[in-house]
Amino acid sequence: MREIQITDNIYYIGTNDRKKHLFENNWPLPKGVSYNSYIIPDRKSALIDTIEFGSDDDYLDKIGRILGGRPLDYLVVNHMEPDHSSMIRSLLSLYPNLKLIGNNQTFKLLQSFYQVKEENFLRIGDGDELELGQTKLKFFIAPWVHWPETMVTYEVTSQTLFACDAFGGFGTLDGGIFDYQNDFEGEYMDEMRRYYSNIVGKYSGMVQKALAKLAPLDIKIIAPSHGLIWKGNPQKVISLYDQWSRYESQEGVVIAFASMYGNTEKMADYIGYLLAEEGIRNIHTFDVSKTHVSYILSEIWKYKGLILGTCAYNTQMHPMMEHLCNEIRLVNPKNKIISVFGSSSWNGAGVKGLKKFLDENGMPYLEPAIEVFGCPLEEKMQDSAQEMVRTFAAELKK
Ligand code: FEO
Repeated sequence: MREIQITDNIYYIGTNDRKKHLFENNWPLPKGVSYNSYIIPDRKSALIDTIEFGSDDDYLDKIGRILGGRPLDYLVVNHMEPDHSSMIRSLLSLYPNLKLIGNNQTFKLLQSFYQVKEENFLRIGDGDELELGQTKLKFFIAPWVHWPETMVTYEVTSQTLFACDAFGGFGTLDGGIFDYQNDFEGEYMDEMRRYYSNIVGKYSGMVQKALAKLAPLDIKIIAPSHGLIWKGNPQKVISLYDQWSRYESQEGVVIAFASMYGNTEKMADYIGYLLAEEGIRNIHTFDVSKTHVSYILSEIWKYKGLILGTCAYNTQMHPMMEHLCNEIRLVNPKNKIISVFGSSSWNGAGVKGLKKFLDENGMPYLEPAIEVFGCPLEEKMQDSAQEMVRTFAAELKK
């Protein structure tokens, strides 16, 4: 692979990972993921983040080719998660005088993960600058985007923001690495929102703080550590992150159900039909046992309405609905209009379990909920379902 020039002084030396099935061993990667890394071979040379160990055996050669025999002076460690940091040991073996740049939170992780010595560390504070020659780096601490030690790095001359996880997305870079070379809406946007909701969304409040801190900067290029590099229209991705981190959503509904033998699924479909009759559009129904929770979370982030349904199972909700609820608790989407439904049989603990989950997590839901004993014949649920759907639709349209 050849290196790609982003500006006169900045090269992309990242790689695509199409082998990994699950990001963080949790989130599916049907379209892969890229680990973006950048090098600035100025009078002093600097690498910005690395790639995941084992994802590209040509990585060190690329650095060597660009440096042309000179040593690497600095590595900026914007984030310590190993998808960006796990080449550090290899780099230190090759360049023993390398200085790793990080903040107060970074060093203890560097010591613990890679046994980095104090003499290889350069501690920076918020707003500190480092001149490389024609280029100059400025560091901004951006905690919890995505973990506590995260920071972003701004190259002042070219006005390039190296944002690490922020503004990233799932999906490999196939051919063009820049936004203007790709069909973002058609190919990348869903994967970017899935990445946001799964990985970064929990920390949306901190994303808002980071956006406020970066607002005074003139940003011409956004170079994240996953996904497209924004050189054509960086404002587009800033505005998407702003929207997602303010929990702004579109009109539409996610109906997520867990059903053992189809009764709760019939209720989900019935509710969907009634919603459509009430004029609601963009209704998306998911069987939580079939669709990975990663995709359901992304749709929940996208739409304003959320209807959860479950059968009763061993005196609680179905385990796969429990799984979805746990992930909702973790990523904490806000400002949703919520209703619940379910079927009961030997016990009626499904709907009760859903309400308990929502109560305990401060997520208000609408009444009435509907619960049908056994087979959901229309005459059994017609009235309560219509009342539930009318209430829900009225709230959604407000
Ligand atoms: Fe791409 Fe939080 O690591």
